[in-house]
Amino acid sequence: MVKCIGVLTSGGDAPGMNAAVRAVARTCLNKGIKVYGVKLGYKGLHDGEFIEFDNHSTRNIINIGGTFLKSARFPEFKQEKVRQEAIEQMKKVGMEALVVIGGDGSYNGALKLTEMGINCIGIPGTIDNDIPDTDFTIGFDTALNTIVDALDKLRDTSSSHQRCTILEVMGRRCGDLAVHAGLACGAESIITSEVGFDEEELIATLKKSKASDKKHAIVVITEHITDVHALAQRVEDATGFETRANVLGHMQRGGRPSARDRVLASRMGIKAVELLIEGKGGLCVSDVKGEIVGLPIEEVLGHRRAVNQGIYDDVLKLRF
Ligand code: ADP
Ligand code: F6P
Repeated sequence: MVKCIGVLTSGGDAPGMNAAVRAVARTCLNKGIKVYGVKLGYKGLHDGEFIEFDNHSTRNIINIGGTFLKSARFPEFKQEKVRQEAIEQMKKVGMEALVVIGGDGSYNGALKLTEMGINCIGIPGTIDNDIPDTDFTIGFDTALNTIVDALDKLRDTSSSHQRCTILEVMGRRCGDLAVHAGLACGAESIITSEVGFDEEELIATLKKSKASDKKHAIVVITEHITDVHALAQRVEDATGFETRANVLGHMQRGGRPSARDRVLASRMGIKAVELLIEGKGGLCVSDVKGEIVGLPIEEVLGHRRAVNQGIYDDVLKLRF
């Protein structure tokens, strides 16, 4: 059985990563497995920045946002030579296997390390919810609640000033944050890369809304689709709605993890260690209809993330 495991957080941080590290550490310690926290993602793995965890190391972190192990983007890890140097560092302390908490980029690193003889298990830690074959990623729920809070506040001022508010949210190419937040906050329009951006349709929707007794409007849009400040000007010119654009930015990545994220992170951390104990590697843990399962990273990365059409259909059912 595996005797020593490392755990790292990599890529964009996400609320709940600490809860996942805690679960990995405690599961290991309870099974008599030595466990190291690796600082700064793959960079720390390469530089040998390891902290041996004991029963005290992961106290008081389940409720803290960000990642206390710190995260990093380290493109050098794509080079086999750099990965080999990281493996040498692992060997120095007897680290035989690794849990990688991060997004799809981090999964690629985990897969390549597994191919080089180090069993790795990925845990989906990203606010974007953009990993295929898992219903939810760690951090999505907290970020969603942050957006909902922001939208509720924007609604207050938007309503007072009879304005249209456009809010750009994160998600990279995934519209889940936008569509869930839009539904939760009663947005007039939700624009994601999955549905595509039709400016004429947006303007028609807002004109219709203005022609009815609605005096303000909310539009939620995923990042990287269009310049929202320029869009706000065009919407104002075309509809007569005074319009303001807001970009929510990195505050979406911070904050106390929600209960849902802590539960998901804890369950995934346990499962990751269980898979390593079974001698498995090259897998990632996924939430499939409430069950935490291990799936091959290679297959998962080869899939396109299925769009949850149901939620888009439900948005339309509530539109006047
Ligand atoms: P995320 O994991 O959130 O998608 P990135 O795409 O930035 O974030 O990936 C995080 C890190 O994973 C990178 O900085 C790099 O160290 C490592 N990584 C990404 N892609 C690869 C790859 N193809 N091979 C090896 N390592 C990779
Ligand atoms: O993947 C998480 C995420 O926050 C995306 O939503 C966003 O596009 C990106 O990371 C921002 O990255 P950075 O922190 O490097 O600006």
